[in-house]
Amino acid sequence: MAGRVQEQVAIVTGAGSIGPGWGNGKAAAVLYAREGARVLAVDLNRAAADETTEIICQEGGQATAIEADVTDSEQVQAVVAHCQEIYGRIDILHNNVGVPDVGGPEEIDEDRWDRSLAINVRSMYLTCRYCLPVMVAQQQGAIVNISSIASLRFIGYPCVSYAASKGAVNQLTQNIAIQYAEQGIRANCILPGLMHTPQIEHYIREGYGGDLEAMIQQRNQLVPMKRMGDAWDVARAALFLASDEARYITGTELVVDGGITCTVH
Ligand SMILES: NC(=O)c1ccc[n+]([C@@H]2O[C@H](COP(=O)([O-])OP(=O)(O)OC[C@H]3O[C@@H](n4cnc5c(N)ncnc54)[C@H](O)[C@@H]3O)[C@@H](O)[C@H]2O)c1
Repeated sequence: MAGRVQEQVAIVTGAGSIGPGWGNGKAAAVLYAREGARVLAVDLNRAAADETTEIICQEGGQATAIEADVTDSEQVQAVVAHCQEIYGRIDILHNNVGVPDVGGPEEIDEDRWDRSLAINVRSMYLTCRYCLPVMVAQQQGAIVNISSIASLRFIGYPCVSYAASKGAVNQLTQNIAIQYAEQGIRANCILPGLMHTPQIEHYIREGYGGDLEAMIQQRNQLVPMKRMGDAWDVARAALFLASDEARYITGTELVVDGGITCTVH
């Protein structure tokens, strides 16, 4: 089923990857391009965005990289203006940027709380704020926001800022879905569970210092399917939600977790 988002223009935030391999944003950007979209790859790290666009261009797709911090209003406005300038429209807004943060209210200080909320939810508010007028003018658009199963329930350790910010992502998405439903704009979230990505390897190393392989096996065992998902599982769900196959789906929270939220621990 090639060409599922043919001729469309996709902005992907956090389109690079924090380390070698496939992060969620990088895989989504590449998959949209494989299915015919022209991609604007946005990242704080220019080299990471360039790596993604090089992969896309080498495969024969179309992509442009832009460096921007999506927590900054002016930089987000510049991204939207640049997308309009080079591609002339915005059909898909894929909000991937988000960072994990572990700790309860006494462990994380105010600066960390503010940082999590800024990166995980202010970023999505800003990109939606500035992309929506373009989508309204087109009477077409699909927003895909990357949330987490931590938005739904306690995930085994305290992570108040992460969980609160991802809960906010879900409601931001639902509100937009309803407000803009009559204007041809859909907004949905994906709630990944335990995914094996460079970001997670980084946080296991930083947070636990110990045996990465042992921690990976432990995470695998927590999942009913006995394995973590990967960035392509998230990307495929995003492609579906962004494409016309999901034309009657808006305001939903698509859980991509190998069944883990169905279990009781
Ligand atoms: N890996 C998992 O297990 C898991 C589980 C649930 C949800 N998620 C969600 O997936 C998303 C991250 O996925 P990923 O694998 O692409 O992560 P990643 O850490 O590889 O990040 C992708 C890119 O985002 C960029 N970035 C970070 N802050 C930015 C900012 N302010 N402005 C612009 N770019 C910025 C980084 O430079 C990086 O290149 C997050 O929203 C995260 O909460 C991941």
